[in-house]
Amino acid sequence: MKVAIVKERRAFERRVAASPDTVKQMKGMGLDVAVEAGAGGGAFFVDAAYEAAGATIAADAAAALDGADIVLKVQRPLLGDGAELDELKPIKKSAVLVGLLSPLEHAADVQAYADAGLTAMAMELVPRITRAQTMDVLSSQANLAGYKAMVDAAGEFGRALPMMMTAAGTIKAARVLVMGAGVAGLQAIATARRLGAVVFATDVRAAAKEQVESLGASFLTVDADAMKNAETAAGYAREMGEDFQRRQRQMITDALRRIDIVICTALIPGRRAPVLLTAEMLDALAPGSVVADIAVESGGNVEGSKPEDTVTTAGGVKIIGYANAPAHIAVDASLLYARNVAAFLALLVDKDKGLHIDTGDEIVKGALLTMDGAVVNPALAPAPPSAPAAGGADGTPPPPAAAAAAEPN
Ligand code: NAI
Repeated sequence: MKVAIVKERRAFERRVAASPDTVKQMKGMGLDVAVEAGAGGGAFFVDAAYEAAGATIAADAAAALDGADIVLKVQRPLLGDGAELDELKPIKKSAVLVGLLSPLEHAADVQAYADAGLTAMAMELVPRITRAQTMDVLSSQANLAGYKAMVDAAGEFGRALPMMMTAAGTIKAARVLVMGAGVAGLQAIATARRLGAVVFATDVRAAAKEQVESLGASFLTVDADAMKNAETAAGYAREMGEDFQRRQRQMITDALRRIDIVICTALIPGRRAPVLLTAEMLDALAPGSVVADIAVESGGNVEGSKPEDTVTTAGGVKIIGYANAPAHIAVDASLLYARNVAAFLALLVDKDKGLHIDTGDEIVKGALLTMDGAVVNPALAPAPPSAPAAGGADGTPPPPAAAAAAEPN
């Protein structure tokens, strides 16, 4: 059975779906692995390392994909529309496609996978249950994104982060505010603490308070009562009402007067990211302050942030915008993503029986988008005419029509 790994061609992507390490694992599963020449370049995995691990190097994407039974990707394949390459066309019917396929934002692409007869699996829909922890791409990538955003912000900041007592005088510790204390935010907090900053954090979920405090940061909250209803059964944030948002903005504006660096990581699954820092609020920051917005690809937490650009406001505040934060730390992000994918693949491949899609397995079922020519994932079913255009009360993502989050490509 052949597995293909091709070079990622979407803008701002440097990761790759397999590492030399996971090629070895796949060989151990009895799979033949074809890697497009140069596919690992963005993560500094050279062709020779893949070859030494047992892969065959294919001259181009078409040669790698030719006859492949399984195609591993980071981002969803490029489809027609003037793209340099239609990555779907060379994939054979009935092949399994695995990647970060952004199905809620790109329903038409999912239909194209069904029409091409592919069995498509979205890694971001793997349920976050204990058994699937090794496959949790949302955590592996967000963790690195939070780290990198903090390090980049420290790099742009014209001052030191830790308190330093020198013969020439004392340097005060920098004060960092992390907005959104999920996986990325908690890692940003831990990184800021390691760098010696005084750290504050805010989130709408009450559960975040204890996690923030356990990392040695102070939790800023607008309204403990409102936070009781802010978390869905799935552990994600709900979109908060206008009154809460207004009070949150006031509380944050007051806090910003004493903050040097802000790291924004707030997301609501399947929705546009909440705007947490308006242009007016940014004026509360002193010149030389730095804001990093890793939610730009979902609409942005910061007014005026631009994907893959650093803009400076009239008030001298630098805003770093990421279109794809994990790709900025492509080596580790690829190593972890590749391991997540290899762990998932182990559910689909039996060394003796070959490919086996067990739709009774809740992990496989959660990730499965298309099979036998049809879109099969309930999260992608068209909304009934009377249904509200929002996610389910239990926190299930909204249907694609309601998903306002748009990706840059
Ligand atoms: P995420 O990437 O969807 O969102 C990031 C953070 O932004 C969340 O903490 C969210 O509450 C916060 N947020 C949303 N709107 C906000 C607003 N207006 N103001 C301030 N903050 C706002 O979340 P992520 O990182 O995927 O984690 C969500 C939850 O899932 C967490 O409780 C996390 O601990 C949990 N989790 C559970 C896992 C498991 O059970 N295996 C694995 C990973 C995460």
